[in-house]
Amino acid sequence: MERRQALHALAGSAVVAALPFGRAHGADAAPFKIGFILPMTGQSASTGKQIEAAAKLWMAQNGSSVAGRKIEMIIKDDAGVADTTRRIAQEYVVNDKVDVLAGFGLTPLAFATAPIATQSKTPMVVTAAATSAITEQSPYIVRTSFTLPQVSVSIAEWAGKHGIKNVVTFVADYGPGIDAEKFFKSQFLLNGGKVTGEIRSPLRSPDFAPFLQKVADLKPDAVFVFLPSGQGAAFMKQFGERGLDKSGIKLIATGDVVDDDQLNDIGDVALGVVNSHHYSAAHPSAMNKKFVAAFEAASKFRPNFMAVAGYDGMHLIYNALATTKGAGGGDALLAAMKGQIFESPRGQILIDAQTRDIVQDVYIRKVERVAAMGNQLYNVEFDVQKAVKDPAKVK
Ligand code: DHB
Repeated sequence: MERRQALHALAGSAVVAALPFGRAHGADAAPFKIGFILPMTGQSASTGKQIEAAAKLWMAQNGSSVAGRKIEMIIKDDAGVADTTRRIAQEYVVNDKVDVLAGFGLTPLAFATAPIATQSKTPMVVTAAATSAITEQSPYIVRTSFTLPQVSVSIAEWAGKHGIKNVVTFVADYGPGIDAEKFFKSQFLLNGGKVTGEIRSPLRSPDFAPFLQKVADLKPDAVFVFLPSGQGAAFMKQFGERGLDKSGIKLIATGDVVDDDQLNDIGDVALGVVNSHHYSAAHPSAMNKKFVAAFEAASKFRPNFMAVAGYDGMHLIYNALATTKGAGGGDALLAAMKGQIFESPRGQILIDAQTRDIVQDVYIRKVERVAAMGNQLYNVEFDVQKAVKDPAKVK
């Protein structure tokens, strides 16, 4: 039996009352459309691949209707190019009449779409991009990923308390990198540390060699790194090739650099790297174990932080549509998204009703080879800051 037929069969039975998203609504209602825009090709293709797999897993597990309204998910590739994102968003709202826009793999792509969300009053669920200011670009933006200030402050605090006195920062030269640099520095100074160099590398086709040479010359106690998902493996490879892993200069980072998507490819050079982030595939909750097992069975690769934000983005949208009893409508959906609290594979999350940004736990982790998990590399959590609000939004 096809999945759709199976769901129709279910809808006719008493079982449906027990399903959280299964309450009846007018059977002739138009489908509810979720228009994802993701980088499926180009430098950030892993982000698209992860979020697509997670959104499909959510639907496979939770059904393709909410309150009797059929859900139609559309995914289009912007290749990480902002003009393309904007064009697809326009087509989505004008031609397809989508009910929700979702995705946005890089900060400039979210910025390009914000005015379209505002003009069309369409909720825009950001499941990847992580510059703090994104949520301020439109009152219709809600975020399920994270912010760079949120994760950079935690590692700065950890470094300050663990004997690291001077640091060189090394970030990708655009929104999230500049956020990471700024918020790492201000917290590290508060903890008594010094930043002795601030290096930025171009987002597109970066060559890390000259920057790594500069780090080696400056000889800090540690280098703090942020690079977007997908660039970590190339960076770590050059870090090892230039012998920096054996130079006595510690590497600390946001979790983007030792991303679950690439960690096994990065290999032993990552061992011992302490980093901070909101999600590890090794997060030891029962819900996460189930999530990872189902994801790996369906996709044949490990979910990373992009996947979990895509999965939670779908959860948020399903909850909002259930709250409106299948009716939808931009303003009603947005109102239903604000203030949602639910358990995610990463831990409990909250959508702050004032800022529409995510409040979540941030973990300090160390890369280890885990015998009990197939002898693979994982980010093993060893400390946590609970319910962290984006520090850039704490007045
Ligand atoms: C952004 C992209 C990433 O891949 C990431 O890991 C963090 C932030 C961004 O462009 O906002």
